[in-house]
Amino acid sequence: MIFTVAIDGPAAAGKGTISRAVAEAFGFAHLDTGALYRAVGVKGGDPVQAAQGLTPEDLARDDLRTLEAGQAASRVAVIPEVRAALLAFQRRFARRPGGAVLDGRDIGTVICPEAEVKLFVTASADVRARRRWLELGGAAASRSLADVLAEVQERDARDMGRADAPLRAAEGAQVIDTSALSSAEAIAEAVALVRQTLGR
Ligand code: CDP
Repeated sequence: MIFTVAIDGPAAAGKGTISRAVAEAFGFAHLDTGALYRAVGVKGGDPVQAAQGLTPEDLARDDLRTLEAGQAASRVAVIPEVRAALLAFQRRFARRPGGAVLDGRDIGTVICPEAEVKLFVTASADVRARRRWLELGGAAASRSLADVLAEVQERDARDMGRADAPLRAAEGAQVIDTSALSSAEAIAEAVALVRQTLGR
């Protein structure tokens, strides 16, 4: 069976949590495409060469989830040659037999516009910043909530404003606003939407 769930949305909206849970619920493979851009961003050197030569070790680094890696990712993500180098792998993954969930910024618009289910997961900037700040340790984190909010807003602006594959909801995407939802509620909504399409 070929079945793709494309999940896009801004930083810290809950895409990762929802994607992993949907993949687990249906036995689909999951690809966090942000990790590809983070790995290119932190590798240093020429980003186009880094994207062309990305290795499993690059993707296994333990510093990919830092705020710095997020910023580095969104800076290399504006380079069309970087995006082009990562395209074929993501497309193949999306259409692999057995079902796939991919989360990122351009999955429903560029990587797999033919995806059977397209979700756009979002939340207010304040809610997203608070979640990311708590993930980083909350009061024990090295950054203030205000710093994290500024970082999230800067990255969103860069992701939405770039010329190549800007962040936006794909045509036909169903929007899940997680601002007032618990993660269990957001997961339940996404799983129900996928189940609806699978059952057709
Ligand atoms: O987890 P979070 O939402 O904070 O970020 P991420 O999904 O790991 O993505 C990090 C950065 O990579 C984003 O801010 C984008 O600039 C870039 N990205 C992209 O351009 N296209 C994708 N499909 C995925 C990520």
